[in-house]
Amino acid sequence: MDEHSLDTVRAWVQEAPHIAVLTGAGISAESGVPTFRDAQTGYWAQFRAEEMATEEGFRSHPQRVWDWYQYRRDLLQGVQPNAAHHALADFERRHPGRLTLITQNVDGLHQRAGSNGVLCLHGDIFEDRWLDTPRSCCHIRHASAGHPPYCDRCGNLVRPGVVWFGEALPYATFEAAEQAARQCALMLVVGTAGAVYPAAGLAHQARSAGARVVVLNPANSELDGAAHAVLRGAAGALLPQVLSA
Ligand code: OAD
Repeated sequence: MDEHSLDTVRAWVQEAPHIAVLTGAGISAESGVPTFRDAQTGYWAQFRAEEMATEEGFRSHPQRVWDWYQYRRDLLQGVQPNAAHHALADFERRHPGRLTLITQNVDGLHQRAGSNGVLCLHGDIFEDRWLDTPRSCCHIRHASAGHPPYCDRCGNLVRPGVVWFGEALPYATFEAAEQAARQCALMLVVGTAGAVYPAAGLAHQARSAGARVVVLNPANSELDGAAHAVLRGAAGALLPQVLSA
């Protein structure tokens, strides 16, 4: 890590009236949650995203996809937020209204660390919803047990409340994220490969609107070129230092 860059970014944090933070799977890596695109350890090294994270994949193999999300839910029950999640929640407590937290993560770890009003672009893995538009017979709390659970009247299937590839992001949430990107003086981009749009586009929007953009990541990311500074390191080590002032 370059000490000069770290001091510079700390100064940018201090002077920014409003900060937007865009997080990705890497911020939860130190909690023991696998990322998607890291070689070997990432989920997409083991599974095909088209099979596990699309509506077509779910319709073709509902049990396989449901069981994978159940496995991830179980894994998340056994992990804790790390120093990076806590640093963000602490900053929000110390500086109410100064930080907008935007995440691509569905793991709920920001909320468990105490962050409020998190803009969850890709949904919530713990939420259940119907695959097809629910009919009057579909009551999610009374779905029949199964892999996945289903409506015993019409056969509708329960699916996880995450955004799959090819699906729209929650409209109001994404609008609020775009507004934060346009209005912030500084955007911190933490633990994301920057490969998935429209989320990654928020960093470009922030830069075009005049904000400073800083990437925090131990490896190269696709957003490095859009950044005024890149801090190389783990989020759990970097964020507490960057936000401590
Ligand atoms: P990726 O798995 O694509 O990227 C994770 C990033 O975290 C990589 O750039 C790593 O270098 C970095 N990283 C690893 N360990 C880290 C650490 N300790 N501290 C900081 N960074 C670290 O995850 P995302 O960019 O979040 O979407 O992926 C975006 C979306 O693609 C996800 O929301 C998910 C996925 O498919 C859906 O499922 C719809």
